[in-house]
Amino acid sequence: MNSLQDKVAIVTGASRGIGRATALALASEGAKVAVNYANSSGAADAVVAEIADQGGEALALQANVAEADQVDALFKTVLDKWGRADVLVNNAGITRDTLLLRMKPEDWQAVINLNLTGVYLCTRAVSKVMLKQRSGRIINIASVAGQMGNPGQANYSAAKAGVIGFTKTVAKEMASRGVTVNAVAPGFIATDMTEGLESEEILKFIPLGRYGQPEEVAGMIQFLAADPAGAYITGQVFNVDGGMVMA
Ligand code: NAI
Repeated sequence: MNSLQDKVAIVTGASRGIGRATALALASEGAKVAVNYANSSGAADAVVAEIADQGGEALALQANVAEADQVDALFKTVLDKWGRADVLVNNAGITRDTLLLRMKPEDWQAVINLNLTGVYLCTRAVSKVMLKQRSGRIINIASVAGQMGNPGQANYSAAKAGVIGFTKTVAKEMASRGVTVNAVAPGFIATDMTEGLESEEILKFIPLGRYGQPEEVAGMIQFLAADPAGAYITGQVFNVDGGMVMA
């Protein structure tokens, strides 16, 4: 039997990149997947169709996860449809890169609103049902930028460091009810977010000497969602970064 048979997963920002690869990976293990997207449905519909082609079940659901009312509506739709929520992957994220001196308040706020507040809103929304079920897996996508800093990313690295602190606190709050909370910290992954950034300069800092693929991050997320693999792990940060950060 597949390790996520009869489980329900929600992946935010799942129309492309790491979110898309994660939705496909969880569905391949038998999970029903809510494929959240922000604006146009085309790419999300394609992910749903790909899952259906492989014999799985998925639903494309529009919501800006930085907005509390849209987040509440998203989780209500999932519960009305499938009646439970077993895995939440807080993946949606944006960048507004520029050096601090040039960083406008709106650049700061947009990144904090989605990359940090969005994680809080979705986690809070799903926690009610997971605590009642006495089971659940919450996986937050952080970044090496939140661990080691990165020039031009004061907003992004602050949000991602915040996600790591949030992960540890919520892991402690929910552990007694069987809900685990972990973070995955990717390095440079080949997606739309990093398109055009690849350079010899960056590759020098990656011991494995290449960018990662979305599927390589999705594999770690799938591991943390699965039983028994992820059952006894909580409050941790897993780097998927070709060796960039070695603790
Ligand atoms: P991407 O730009 O390809 O995908 C981001 C997804 O988030 C898109 O599907 C987008 O539509 C969605 N999104 C944007 N605003 C949204 C909103 N308000 N509500 C709902 N969805 C929204 O980026 P990628 O690379 O796949 O990133 C996924 C996550 O991984 C992000 O949290 C990012 O910060 C993180 N990450 C990515 C790295 C990389 O090198 N690509 C490195 C470290 C972390």
